[in-house]
Amino acid sequence: MLRYFLAITFLASFINAQIIPRDQLFSDPKYSSVSLSPDGSIIAYLAPNEKGISNIFTKCVTCQHTKVVTFDNKRHINGFQWTGVPNVMLYYQDLDGDENYKLYKLNITNPSPQNEPHIISDRPGVKAAIIANNLVDRRVLIGLNDENPAYHNVYELDLYTNEMTRIFHNKRFPPQIIVDNDLQIRLVAEEADDGSLIYLRPSSKANPRKLTSDKDTWVQYLKVSPEDRPLTLELILDN
Ligand SMILES: *[C@@H]1O[C@H](CO)[C@@H](O)[C@H](O)[C@H]1NC(C)=O
Repeated sequence: MLRYFLAITFLASFINAQIIPRDQLFSDPKYSSVSLSPDGSIIAYLAPNEKGISNIFTKCVTCQHTKVVTFDNKRHINGFQWTGVPNVMLYYQDLDGDENYKLYKLNITNPSPQNEPHIISDRPGVKAAIIANNLVDRRVLIGLNDENPAYHNVYELDLYTNEMTRIFHNKRFPPQIIVDNDLQIRLVAEEADDGSLIYLRPSSKANPRKLTSDKDTWVQYLKVSPEDRPLTLELILDN
């Protein structure tokens, strides 16, 4: 009798089942890039504003209210990062998905539409990338392919003064630049003709504050064969 009852309830649950609405599976998430500030006091996330454009919102962890800190009604904000300087964020936007990211610095202490972000790079056709951000220093490393679309120069940005200093003039290496926790460039990588990946470290001739891609300023550190590449890359980047 019990078994019969269970079978009926089981079947009934199928009959009542509804198809999951398509937009719940495929639409943009309401909240994304949720991220805690380095001091643990604020949660920030991306969400659409009332015009449906993705902007940055913040919420203090010990209180309930939420506020919007960017006021863009035209272009979506694609992503953001906290920095080591309190209340200072970096965020990026592209033009209709062209992936040529423009990069901005924003002080979120007093959010208002009049509080303009500082433009780090908004040149058309240039793709800005955050190469390193240790969430401690007042400096971050920014990559800009401002000379040749294939190669990123690396600049150190001072988050207080907005001064940009080029520390790596790069005419050779793809933007797979490995940086340590003190924001020192340690390794670059270059593909060899046989498909292996060669990692190079700065030689004794290199000035770490003024690197170039000249041959005598880099020495081979590691050669990774084509079949070992996928795993080896992950291990190096995780460290
Ligand atoms: C951010 O803005 C606040 C308030 O105007 C100011 O006190 C603080 O120095 C600013 N931070 C930076 C890094 O400029």
